Amino acid sequence: MENNKTKVPVDTYIGEIRSEAAKKWDESRPDEYKEYRRKWVENPKNFILEEGPLNLDLEVTSYCNLKCPMCPRTVMIRDNLKVNGKKFESGYMDLDLFKNLIDQAVEMGVKAIKLNWLGEPLAHKNIVEMVAYAKQKGIIDILMNTNAVFLTEKLSRELIEAGLDKLSFSFDSPQKEDYEKIRIGANFDKVIENIKTFNKIRTELGKDTPQTRVSMVLMKSNQHQYQDFVNLFKDVVDVVAYSNYSDHEEIIGADEKTEKREKIKNFSCAQLWQRMFVTWDGDVIVCCVDIMRNYIVGNAKHEKLKDIWKNQKYEYMRKKHKKGEYMDIPICSKCDAAEFDE
Ligand SMILES: C[S@@+](CC[C@H](N)C(=O)[O-])C[C@H]1O[C@@H](n2cnc3c(N)ncnc32)[C@H](O)[C@@H]1O
Ligand code: SF4
Repeated sequence: MENNKTKVPVDTYIGEIRSEAAKKWDESRPDEYKEYRRKWVENPKNFILEEGPLNLDLEVTSYCNLKCPMCPRTVMIRDNLKVNGKKFESGYMDLDLFKNLIDQAVEMGVKAIKLNWLGEPLAHKNIVEMVAYAKQKGIIDILMNTNAVFLTEKLSRELIEAGLDKLSFSFDSPQKEDYEKIRIGANFDKVIENIKTFNKIRTELGKDTPQTRVSMVLMKSNQHQYQDFVNLFKDVVDVVAYSNYSDHEEIIGADEKTEKREKIKNFSCAQLWQRMFVTWDGDVIVCCVDIMRNYIVGNAKHEKLKDIWKNQKYEYMRKKHKKGEYMDIPICSKCDAAEFDE
């Protein structure tokens, strides 16, 4: 029976336009995929906890080649903010650690992995090997977001052949000048060419996977450009989407929020039943918003993922959310997810 005390919105940050090809792709997924997507929505609403998360987010690197002003990574470096008491570091996950985490993930029943958090995943020299390893071990949904700057023809071909399932390109304006003011360090024409070439190569290889998507962070300064953005990409990729600007632990500033929103009083966070995050250096955190690593629940270099997933610190947070008491937890009290209903 569905819990009726708290509201558990799922995927609230995202608005999507799915093409016919995307709908067909979804329908053609195997039963195991459909079952994991069903659990993605229903487990959090019913507080069902599996042996492990449905999705494991692995930050393969915290390095990035761009300096987007709305990105928490940029702000942390610019303002010299401390991450768990230390200066922000750009680092890369060891391939051995990655493989070990995938082996544990498969044993725990993890179905999906996302290969980025605060950095640019294509900057990792082993990214293709990582995708291929996870696929070969049986992960059914391998996804990542990228700024697409490093996406050469060779890398595109290799990623497709390695078995990547979903690739989401981040692209924040249909206007060259505005895009280059947001995606500082990227060239508008080159990145569009990279995105188009990726899709062309996928077609040439006779594949419909990875499903491709372009996503714009919707802010006060660019929201009027959304329709032009849709028109620019609707015939290029499978899904065109936006995600709402998030003020991440209130370090960035609320100026770019598209509207003033009240927090839901009896909010409970879906991510606690869906996902677990491992940073490039092994820290395990419970959600994507905890950029300062204020609520570390373990370290994957020293503890087993399955022990961390159900440890006391994790369970304390779940208990608080179940009771609708998320405001008692400092990182949750600042989180924008509590501002979105379904
Ligand atoms: C932090 S980036 C890392 C992956 C990669 N470098 C990229 O840009 O796609 C992951 C996603 O977060 C989005 N993002 C960055 N800053 C954001 C913000 N303040 N609010 C919401 N999403 C944001 C990016 O556009 C991107 O789609
Ligand atoms: S490219 Fe991605 S990680 Fe890098 S600054 Fe921009 S949003 Fe952040």
